[in-house]
Amino acid sequence: MFQKKTVKDVNVKGKIVLVRTDYNVPIENGEITSDLRIKASLPTLEYLKSEGAKRIIVISHLGRPEGQKNPDLSLKPAADKLAELMPDAKVSFINDVSGPDVEEAIEKAPAGGIIVLENLRFYPGEEKNSEDFAREIFESTHADIFVQDGFAVVHRAHASTDAITNCLPSVAGFLLEKEISALSGVLNNPERPFMLMLGGAKVDDKAPLIEAFKDTADAICVGGKIAADGAVEKDGDKIYIAEDFDEDSTGAKLDCGPLSTHRFAETAKNSKTVLWNGLLGKAEDPAYATSSTIFAKTLGENPNITSIICGGDTSGFCENLVSADPNLKFSLISTGGGAALEYLSGKNLPGLDALEDK
Ligand code: 3PG
Repeated sequence: MFQKKTVKDVNVKGKIVLVRTDYNVPIENGEITSDLRIKASLPTLEYLKSEGAKRIIVISHLGRPEGQKNPDLSLKPAADKLAELMPDAKVSFINDVSGPDVEEAIEKAPAGGIIVLENLRFYPGEEKNSEDFAREIFESTHADIFVQDGFAVVHRAHASTDAITNCLPSVAGFLLEKEISALSGVLNNPERPFMLMLGGAKVDDKAPLIEAFKDTADAICVGGKIAADGAVEKDGDKIYIAEDFDEDSTGAKLDCGPLSTHRFAETAKNSKTVLWNGLLGKAEDPAYATSSTIFAKTLGENPNITSIICGGDTSGFCENLVSADPNLKFSLISTGGGAALEYLSGKNLPGLDALEDK
């Protein structure tokens, strides 16, 4: 069970609510190329609006500007996208996070309006987890309640995930609750048989997952570059490492071959829970997306499998498949990359720990 208070445990009517989202979305030439994280914030924002919050103030980071203002990393495109996704809400953007201009803009915003502030990481205090920086935001926004809904950033102890919670009552949003509930189910009490499917390019990211699940998983399958490079050792009968690959003309192994793909899919079909992190081939090239597509469809077409997808590339890949075919259903497409990996590896999440217990 989720142990933290959520927006449902507080009265938000007539209150100014400060919501931390993770709008760290990919942007190319000023265009957002995946709005998964913005869409994922809607249930909490819609709820606050429908419950009569006086103002909803959204804060987030984007990229790693390292305490410097960088127009390429402004949150304005994210605010525009939010306005598009919530046509009935009055969404506005302010190019700062504190000070008299912010105070005035919030004051003048319409009742129930949503105000998106500028990228928190334009200010050094954010990543330093500065109490002063958090207090400036709190005092300028006059917020009554803080809602943490940026699941993807709760593994960071920053001003907007940690220090801010010392200023005002702090609870979880629906996205954070949903992600933690699904991931803790896999971590603590997966329905069996339980399969861990790993892929991707960086073995350092995946080794802690193998370590964390080597006793609880019934099967661990490995594809992707980490399998092609021979980066994962076969340790016991439980681990199956891809045995055949599709190669390009230079002999580079860019996708798992039919034998391995079949084995992955069969193992999934015989499982009740599947946790998948990491693409099984170089799936950004459609020629090498076959094994990832077959595996994703095996999960998405099979309502009996609890399927948890995590890792930025894997989540984005599944999200695109769902956009093309809404009949595909996954139990959770996580918005968190590092946060999900850290949580599943048994680490504490400072942004979660800082919230009020139920
Ligand atoms: C992410 O995309 O994983 C989060 O937004 C955290 O970003 P960071 O790794 O720059 O802290």
